[in-house]
Formats: sequence, C-alpha cells, structure tokens
Amino acid sequence: MVVSSHDEPFVQVLSRYYASHNTHTQAEMSIIEEVLPTYFADQPMHPGIQALSYGETPLQVATEIFDWAHLKAEEDFVDLGCGCGAVALLAAQRAHRSTGVDLACASIQFARAASNVLGVANAEFHEQDMLKTDLEPFSVIYCCATAVSEWLALQLSANLPQCRPGTRLITVSYPLRSDRIKAVYDRPIHLSWGNTRNTKAWTFYLHYLDSAP
Ligand SMILES: C[S@@+](CC[C@H](N)C(=O)[O-])C[C@H]1O[C@@H](n2cnc3c(N)ncnc32)[C@H](O)[C@@H]1O
Repeated sequence: MVVSSHDEPFVQVLSRYYASHNTHTQAEMSIIEEVLPTYFADQPMHPGIQALSYGETPLQVATEIFDWAHLKAEEDFVDLGCGCGAVALLAAQRAHRSTGVDLACASIQFARAASNVLGVANAEFHEQDMLKTDLEPFSVIYCCATAVSEWLALQLSANLPQCRPGTRLITVSYPLRSDRIKAVYDRPIHLSWGNTRNTKAWTFYLHYLDSAP
C-alpha cells in the first residue's frame, strides 16, 4: 500500500508516517541489542560508541539544509547514520538518488519498509559503517551523528580524499578538517532531536570541497 497523496506535501506525509511509528524506541533498542553486541562487544570503551546516540532531524530543518547545500535534481545524496531513514526519504524527492547507511539493522529495515509503503523508488538503505562507506558517488553528504562526537568528525575527515570535487558535506557540532575543504559556513539551528518541544541551538557546518561558490 502506498500512503503518499498527491494532495499533501510529501514532508507532511512523511512526518505523519514517522510520528505514527515509535522510531526513536525502535532505533535505540536496535543500537543496544544489535549494534553494541555485534560491533563493539570486545571494545566497550571504543570512541565510536558515543556517536550511536539516537535522534532525528526535524524534517523542516532537513528541508532548510537541502536548500542551504543546493541539493539538485541530478545529484546523489547520502545520510551517513540515517537511523530510520526519514531524512534520506525526504532527500529522494529532490535528488536523483538518495542513500542511507547505518549500523543499526532494525533501523535500516524500517527505512526500507517506509520507502516501499511511501512509494519512494529512488532511495536505498544499507546496514554498514559510515566510515567504510565509499563517498565518491555522492554530491551532498549529511552526517548529524557528529553532533556528540568530535572523534567521528575526525574519522570522517580522513575519508574526504574519496569525494569528488564540488561535494558538499554537512555536519553538526564539529567541522571537518581537510586540505580539500575550500569553504566552511556555519549556522545555528534550534531543534530538538527527540519528540519533545525543548529545543536548543546546534551548530551546523556546510563544507565545500575544492571550490567555494
Ligand atoms: C542522531 S542519529 C541521526 C538519524 C538521522 N540521520 C536523522 O538525522 O534523522 C545518528 C545515527 O548514526 C548512526 N551511527 C553512528 N555511528 C555510525 C557509524 N559508524 N556507521 C553508521 N551509522 C552510525 C546511529 O546508529 C544513529 O542511527
């Protein structure tokens, strides 16, 4: 069954769909029950664990970010640490192809199911480590898992040589560091990653590789 309607903007359809499923709890359980035992069983102090905090980017904020990064119809988008996939599904409406990767198997399964139900044909989801993801195919890369992990931003920075010229990358809280970054813009965005109305300002960073606009 496809629940999207031509009469209603997709962002509203998506918001309703995600609000009616308990995605935060599902994703958190997946991290505790699957990701930690599978990937970190013998490394309980691994710095990558901090980046596993779950939260979702409000879809209005995601829309602002796509505008800010000038995501275009012929470009491919990836959400590194996509959780249950709403941001990647929204990006699919304006990108050529949208991909989400996450270590949490249940979150990826939820995203695939949502993609089918909502009739999004140009999105794909993979259970994989973002730090082992080939970044070359993507023009716009979003990673909000850096919000609580400077370590993750440093690791991601080391992977920038894979990216094509002109790639834009968005992180939260911590900017990336690389010789290939020619410009970085930052802006505070007030949001809550959870279901609460309590918002605070988070700094988003937009990086341009090789050539600044
Ligand atoms: C804050 S949530 C963001 C969810 C989604 N991107 C959004 O903005 O709504 C961060 C996600 O990053 C994932 N994550 C953290 N480290 C990861 C890694 N090394 N590889 C893949 N996913 C990772 C977590 O499992 C979690 O689902």
